[in-house]
Amino acid sequence: MLRLGIVGLGRGAVLTAPALAAHPRIEIVAGCDPGADARAGFAAQMKARSYADLETLLCDPEIDAVYIASPHESHAAHTVAAARAGKHVLVEKPMAVTLANAARMAEAARAAGTVLMVGPSHGYDAPVALAADLIADGTAGAAHMIHAFAYTDFLYRPRRPAELLRAEGGGVVLSQGSHQVDVVRRLAGSRVKTVRAWVGDWDAARRADGAFTALLTFENGAAAGLVYSGYARYDSDARAGWAGELGMPKTPGTQARTRAALAAGNEGAAKTARGFAAGAEAVRAPYHERLGSVIACCANADLELTPEGVVVHGDAGPELRMAPLPPVRRYGVADAFARAVLDGERPLFDGAWGLETLAVLHALLKSAVEGRDISPADLIDAERSMP
Ligand SMILES: NC(=O)c1ccc[n+]([C@@H]2O[C@H](COP(=O)([O-])OP(=O)(O)OC[C@H]3O[C@@H](n4cnc5c(N)ncnc54)[C@H](O)[C@@H]3O)[C@@H](O)[C@H]2O)c1
Repeated sequence: MLRLGIVGLGRGAVLTAPALAAHPRIEIVAGCDPGADARAGFAAQMKARSYADLETLLCDPEIDAVYIASPHESHAAHTVAAARAGKHVLVEKPMAVTLANAARMAEAARAAGTVLMVGPSHGYDAPVALAADLIADGTAGAAHMIHAFAYTDFLYRPRRPAELLRAEGGGVVLSQGSHQVDVVRRLAGSRVKTVRAWVGDWDAARRADGAFTALLTFENGAAAGLVYSGYARYDSDARAGWAGELGMPKTPGTQARTRAALAAGNEGAAKTARGFAAGAEAVRAPYHERLGSVIACCANADLELTPEGVVVHGDAGPELRMAPLPPVRRYGVADAFARAVLDGERPLFDGAWGLETLAVLHALLKSAVEGRDISPADLIDAERSMP
């Protein structure tokens, strides 16, 4: 059994903890959060111990590993402390805010000989995994050009102030771009060579990086175009039969209601109410989790990712390949972490992967400022050469 502690009992933890709790080889033994309501909600729902801080949780002798779902800017300090205490780590996306911190995290896990896995991101989604298999087994063949676009209400969901500040990793680039970059990297099967991008910030009442578009080229010759808007007007789930990001049915007008609720309510209280202070969410979803639309044009067919699986658009026309639904939402992430810790399997989304995805996102931000192609590998090299 993998005995787990959860660090940060907010929105991210509420979404992922049920899958960890449902896994037969994982036992959630404790959680920590400075918020008393979050601790009380977690202890009651997960039937586990709760602590006010990480240091006390790391002293709990029954914990082998931690899932870190604290704010972005705490991921590095929490991951390094956990690795030094000999604990395996699953850390939320984005891995860190800065490349220096992501590199420190990877090094801490390497020095301690512990697992470091990053996620969950939509790179784990079952339709993405199925598409990657269809590419690898030759059904579709190599991906040449990938198109990923998502139009959501990200900017108008209740947020902590840091979630809107670029310096703290806020805005859509690090928070949401990490999903899209993981997806297209997995499908392209190659390292990103260059990024050319543009970032938008156009609501004067809610200043933040709210949208971006980017062209990624890969070392194997493939290319990917990304578009993301968090401005809560057009909703890309309209193109997926109104299956929502978390695999639940939704109705037209959801994003307008998100805007209206923000305008009417207390944002801080509404944010807290989305965490364990309010309650864990239903975990049996009728569709797969998914972010927006993804189409991969491959050597032998085009792949269209859907809430059910993948439509293979081959020479003979479209054919739907269903991806089996997991027993509970996000089960694949829990299973990958259990296998990494208990069976020694190398996770796909490990520390090195997380560092590269973060470098792509920093390249995106830098390209938008400087108006030129940026190489993520150059950013990592520059970081490594710093004294
Ligand atoms: N993968 C996903 O689907 C998903 C969804 C939501 C959030 N997230 C990620 O989860 C992370 C947290 O975001 P959120 O939306 O859950 O925020 P949140 O504010 O809802 O939750 C963060 C929690 O961490 C707690 N916290 C703050 N400092 C702490 C500390 N030192 N020790 C322990 N706990 C501490 C806060 O009190 C809060 O309860 C972010 O990195 C975000 O990207 C991921």
